[in-house]
Amino acid sequence: MRSAVRERERTFPVGATVALDQLDDDPHPVLAKLRAREPVSWLPALDGWLVTRYDDAVAVMRDPDRFTVADPRFSTGQVLGPSMLSLDGTEHVRHRAPFVAPFRARAVRRTFSTDAAAETARLVDRLAHRRAGELRRGFAGPLAAAIVGRALGLDQGEERAVLRWYDAIVDAVTAITAGRAVTPEGRAAFQELRRYLLGAIEHEPADSLLAGIAAQPELTHDEIVSNAAVLLFGGVETTEGMISNVLLHLLERPELLDIVRADQVLLAAAIEESLRLEPAASVVDRYTTEAISLRGASIEAGELVRVSIAAANRDPAVFSDADMFDLDRANSRRHIAFAQGAHVCLGIHLARLEAQTGLSVLLASLPRLRLDRARPPRVRGIVFRKPSALHALWD
Ligand code: HEM
Repeated sequence: MRSAVRERERTFPVGATVALDQLDDDPHPVLAKLRAREPVSWLPALDGWLVTRYDDAVAVMRDPDRFTVADPRFSTGQVLGPSMLSLDGTEHVRHRAPFVAPFRARAVRRTFSTDAAAETARLVDRLAHRRAGELRRGFAGPLAAAIVGRALGLDQGEERAVLRWYDAIVDAVTAITAGRAVTPEGRAAFQELRRYLLGAIEHEPADSLLAGIAAQPELTHDEIVSNAAVLLFGGVETTEGMISNVLLHLLERPELLDIVRADQVLLAAAIEESLRLEPAASVVDRYTTEAISLRGASIEAGELVRVSIAAANRDPAVFSDADMFDLDRANSRRHIAFAQGAHVCLGIHLARLEAQTGLSVLLASLPRLRLDRARPPRVRGIVFRKPSALHALWD
């Protein structure tokens, strides 16, 4: 066994030297090296394989028969129960299908435009009379929590409960990922969330999303709860990161702020470039169902294969000057920040709506918005990447 590990380390020398700190802090240089020299590499630090080229990333995500999420080691499934995120094949279709129509672009615009504008206005009002603030937990996070909370039928003012449940569930998932047991707080939070959502299913009016899904025969109430928890989980962390990352990209380039402030199309382009350069969910995990040879790497059945969305999004085979933030890039929407294949993000249109509405109002309302140079932001995270804080000043 040990000699097999040593053999892998010899075959993949770049992967063998990658440290978790490097991936957490600034992964892009080492990802570029891997993409060029070991596009499918064994990383002892991850105890798994890492796929870094665009074409391979797409191929893996589009092949759920051989690269599956349906594995008992999958941490989210252990905490939240089976859901669309942790199933493949016909079971995946059964869990996902009832949620598809309400998250289509037109339905999202109809259902959430007013809420997104109102919630943004409320948050910006709180900021506008000040001259400084932290915009990740003071803007991006509450906006994301409020909108996904609204989608699940939570009332206004319950964002604090959403964020509390959410933090405990994230802790539980993190504990499992690190090889520890689910925290009692994580279990208790999920039970509290479950009770709340069951209430929302039974008591909300027929036009609420969860009540509408409960009226169809596909899913049991417990299955609806697990999928709703995935929506909550997916809708807060990543959207908070997405909005914070766009803001950071723009604040680091003050010359672009005025341009995108005045032009919704360019703001949309900035959002896509930011998703490409720093995707808020930078890695997705799969498990092989059989022995597979991928770009020369021999992967055994049941091994962890991690797809680096962050690396694929900077693949020079697809994006020229891939490390540049370029508002005129013609193909920036080819990025795969929202994944590909059966598990492609369900919340794409909602996330884009939130980012576009939130940022256009924020930029229009806070004059001379700029980074607080005394407290520079640092983007971190192995899976979920965003600035730990985003301190800004305005006039
Ligand atoms: C309103 C916001 C969002 C909601 C409600 C949401 C919801 C979801 C759901 C339910 C899934 C699972 C789909 C399935 O397995 O069939 C998913 C997958 C995914 N989402 Fe989102 N999401 C949101 C925002 C985002 C954002 C902002 C990003 C990244 C920037 C993102 C990236 C992803 C990725 C990469 C996956 C695929 C996971 C995998 O294949 O393992 N999501 N999302």
